[in-house]
Amino acid sequence: MLIFKKVADLQAWVKQERAGGRSIGFAPTMGALHDGHMELIRLSHRDGHRTVASIFVNPTQFNDPKDLEKYPRMPEKDLLLLHDTGCDAVFMPSVEEVYPPGSDVTISLDFRQLDEVMEGVFRPGHFIGMATVVNRLLDIVLPQSLYMGQKDFQQLTIVRDMIRQLNLPIELVMCPTVRESDGLAMSSRNMRLSPEMRAVAPVIYQTLQWASGQMRARTASEIQAEAMQKLQEAGLQPEYFDIVDGISLKPVERWEEGEFIVVCTAAFAGDVRLIDNLVMKQ
Ligand code: PAJ
Repeated sequence: MLIFKKVADLQAWVKQERAGGRSIGFAPTMGALHDGHMELIRLSHRDGHRTVASIFVNPTQFNDPKDLEKYPRMPEKDLLLLHDTGCDAVFMPSVEEVYPPGSDVTISLDFRQLDEVMEGVFRPGHFIGMATVVNRLLDIVLPQSLYMGQKDFQQLTIVRDMIRQLNLPIELVMCPTVRESDGLAMSSRNMRLSPEMRAVAPVIYQTLQWASGQMRARTASEIQAEAMQKLQEAGLQPEYFDIVDGISLKPVERWEEGEFIVVCTAAFAGDVRLIDNLVMKQ
C-alpha cells in the first residue's frame, strides 16, 4: 500500500495507473477508521478499481472548533486497517496541501434547501466545507467512482447534487450502513460514548425501524412526535427526526406521497452527537 502526503506525488501515481488502463475508486475519510469505512474500500475493490482512501480531518467542515480539536486521530491504526482490507493507496495531506495558502478553493454552489434542512439547521456552514473538500479531493484524485456511506445520507445527497451541477464524470456509489450487532451505526464518535450511553444508543436504530413500520398507516407528523418522545424517554436528546424525500430532502407526510422515502435523525447521547437514517421506501 502506497502512502502519499503530497498532491503532486499522488497525481503522478494516478496518472501512471490510468495510463496502464486501470480505473480509480476513491473513498474520502477523516480517519479513526472502522468497519463502516472498510466497506467502502471493499466495494471499490469488488468493482475492480485501484482503490484510494484519503485521511484528512477537514477543518472547514467543523462549525465547532472544540469538535475539531476532539476529533480522534489514530493514523497508525488506520493504515493497518486499510492495508489489511486491500486499499492500494492512501492520501494523507497536510492542511496546506489541501488548502494552499493564498488560493481560495471554496465552492460557490447553490444547494437550494438541501444544505438547510436537518444537519444544516444544527451545523451551519458544515456542508459547504464538506462539499469544498470533497470537490478539491476529487480534483486531485480524479476517480471514476466515488464511494460514500448511506450513514451520512444528507452528505451523500449533497455530493450527488454537486456532481450533477458540476457535470463531473464520476459515478457515486452509496454504500450500506455498517452496524454493530445491536444495531448502532458504526461511527468514529462511538468510542467517546460512556458505558451508560453506549447501552442506550441502539434505541436510535430501534426508533428508526419502529417509524418505518408505522409509515403506511400514519402521518409523518404523528410518527415524528412519538419518535422524539421515545428517544427522550430512553435518555437521549434528539435534535430532529425527519421523514423526507430521498432526493429533494423535502418532508413527506404520507406513504403514497413519495417513491423514495428516508427517515433521518440526530440525537445527543450524553455529549456525543449521533446521526442515523433508514430508507423506508425505494
Ligand atoms: P467520515 O465521517 O470519516 O466518513 C467517511 C465515509 O465513511 C463517509 O462516506 C461516511 O458516510 C462513511 N461511513 C461512516 N460510517 C459508516 C458506516 N457505519 N457504514 C457505512 N459507511 C460509513 O464523512 C466524512 O468523513 C467527511 O465528511 C468527508 C466526506 C471525508 C469529507 O471531509
